[in-house]
Amino acid sequence: MERAVVQVILFGLLLAFAAALPNKDDWDIYSFHINSTVASRYATTVITSRVANRMNESKEIEFHVQIPKNAFISKFKMLIDGEVYDGVVKAKEQAQQQYTEAVSHGQSAGIVSSVGRTLEEFKTSVNVAAHKKVTFELTYEELMKRTHGKYELQIHARPMQPVKDFKVDVYIHEKAGISFVDVKGGLSTKALANAITKTKADEQAWVHFYPTVDQQKVCDSCGEHGLNGDLIVVYDVSRDSGLGEIKTSDGYFIHHFAPASLPRISKNVVFVIDRSGSMQGTKMEQTRRALVHILNDLAEEDFFGLITFDDQIFHWKKELVQATSGNLQKAKTFAETIEARGATDINTAVLKGAEMLNAHPREDSASILILLTDGDPTSGETNIESIQSNVRRAIAGKFPLYCLGFGFDVNFNFLEKMSLQNNGVGRRIYEDSDADLQLTGFYEEVATPLLTDVTMIYLGGTNLTQTNFSQYYNGSEIVVAGQITDNNIETFIPQVVAVSRNGKMTFSKTKTSTVTPTGTVSEGLLQRVWAYLTVKQFLEKALLLSGAEKEKVKKEALELSLKYSFVTPHTSMVVTKPQGENTDVLHKPKEGERSSQDQQYHIGHGQTMKIPTRSGRINKYDE
Ligand SMILES: *[C@@H]1O[C@H](CO)[C@@H](O)[C@H](O)[C@H]1NC(C)=O
Ligand SMILES: *[C@@H]1O[C@H](CO)[C@@H](O)[C@H](O)[C@H]1NC(C)=O
Ligand SMILES: *[C@@H]1O[C@H](CO)[C@@H](O)[C@H](O)[C@H]1NC(C)=O
Ligand SMILES: *[C@@H]1O[C@H](CO)[C@@H](O)[C@H](O)[C@H]1NC(C)=O
Repeated sequence: MERAVVQVILFGLLLAFAAALPNKDDWDIYSFHINSTVASRYATTVITSRVANRMNESKEIEFHVQIPKNAFISKFKMLIDGEVYDGVVKAKEQAQQQYTEAVSHGQSAGIVSSVGRTLEEFKTSVNVAAHKKVTFELTYEELMKRTHGKYELQIHARPMQPVKDFKVDVYIHEKAGISFVDVKGGLSTKALANAITKTKADEQAWVHFYPTVDQQKVCDSCGEHGLNGDLIVVYDVSRDSGLGEIKTSDGYFIHHFAPASLPRISKNVVFVIDRSGSMQGTKMEQTRRALVHILNDLAEEDFFGLITFDDQIFHWKKELVQATSGNLQKAKTFAETIEARGATDINTAVLKGAEMLNAHPREDSASILILLTDGDPTSGETNIESIQSNVRRAIAGKFPLYCLGFGFDVNFNFLEKMSLQNNGVGRRIYEDSDADLQLTGFYEEVATPLLTDVTMIYLGGTNLTQTNFSQYYNGSEIVVAGQITDNNIETFIPQVVAVSRNGKMTFSKTKTSTVTPTGTVSEGLLQRVWAYLTVKQFLEKALLLSGAEKEKVKKEALELSLKYSFVTPHTSMVVTKPQGENTDVLHKPKEGERSSQDQQYHIGHGQTMKIPTRSGRINKYDE
């Protein structure tokens, strides 16, 4: 087979299209393996799909998988007829240029990519000759994030047909000790129970999922086309009440800080709730339900405030009130009567919320401002930059702002940026039957502050990821990675200074030093964790900057992505395909883009076809 005239370009990840929609009956996925190795909370997953063309003629064979949004693809290859076609990560512009050139030679393909609640799709296809086989192999990496007291490794299995040799293997190695392992998700049902095995030792755990062909058709979310669902491996590690776990290797370190048994800090929380006309119906109903649940959850020592807004601002009470049962009862009665109407004055609403918290400074407590909105600012100040700078001035770094964007009519970039500018995070709430659970789930993440003003200090450390955190919540974890100057562990002194309920605390190395060179982590792993975290933080930082500073951070993110072969918003993977194939463009879908129903795609030599998108969204080719 002649090699490589045409390229497939995976922009970020995702997407591709072929000259014809493949008919899946013509080919046989005879083996499908997912192998995930987790060490120090860093998961490396390899999906291997082996497919045979059983027909007398050549066929377009598709590889279509979904991977966690948070992950970076780091490898992709195809093996066809003894030849290996390896993906190469390139700068996006470079890949784009290659694509444009291919297009000018009459080869073009669709630009589709989609992003769901927790997963992104990856789809490509290749022409395989009669009676030949192809192997697809995709590797992705992600640092698991602790929420609600656990890590969750989500594995999505949808091979598109029942597969004779189907396997999911998960191996977890945590030096701190694994406190529990569980298996959840749509595939963890009765019908498949005996296909799952789970083994746990002190530092290691294994989960295997080997369903038979028959089982692949009978599970809840499965059918004729085989498995379609998630296997979610849930675990946590053992914790002490000190400095936490610090691993070092090859001049790099990673620090996981989540001290156990700290007392909760009382909080002052203000909820700023959008009740503009667009919230009417289910969204308002879900918001009311979530609010009532959240109010039930406040501790008596907490103080709270409720503001609803449309083009008018309504304070339930002018000042923060204590969460006594009497006050909570009145607040719940109020919450149940919130009705949607009017336009959206985000600026005044958030400023009023900040004002309430500023008017109520309490020693040794943690203040939190939560905005819930489903739309763009349409009333009062509507200029996004002005709102951001007003809000930043009002909050002045004193407490975090969390912005929850409800549905897809919000300008999520605006909300995300405003949160990041104020030490918080932006979160999308998907318009779905479980929206109230998403809201309460988010609230629970920040419900129990344990520390404020957390400063992570590393004498003898350099190239550190973020080291200052305004609050640390129960069930979460602070992760810092960096390099050790001259790889000298003797002079490397980690320390954490923070404010707890009992005042200022210092966490430092004890005699039973937690800093251990780890012979057990595979070589280069900590370095990859560092690179992963650094790239993620550069991408966030780029959101907040402008001009030359932004370009500098983007450039740094790009260089690291190229060096470690991560497919990020600034890089693309170029896969060389056998001759005669169309060019496909794949790029990482961006959160916040709208879906559109049907779009035109060019496929192959100037033909056009319509592809209905499912819940996915269409991305424009450029950023
Ligand atoms: C999974 O991948 C790891 C790391 O590459 C390898 O050591 C292990 O043998 C693989 N497991 C299976 C069941 O293939
Ligand atoms: C494939 O070719 C063989 C030999 O030419 C023929 O007997 C058979 O019917 C063909 N099969 C299909 C599915 O076309
Ligand atoms: C933190 O969460 C754990 C369970 O994840 C719970 O046992 C503990 O009591 C919580 N701490 C506080 C202060 O609420
Ligand atoms: C982190 O916090 C410390 C102490 O609060 C402060 O001195 C330092 O400048 C902060 N660093 C950054 C990068 O914000």
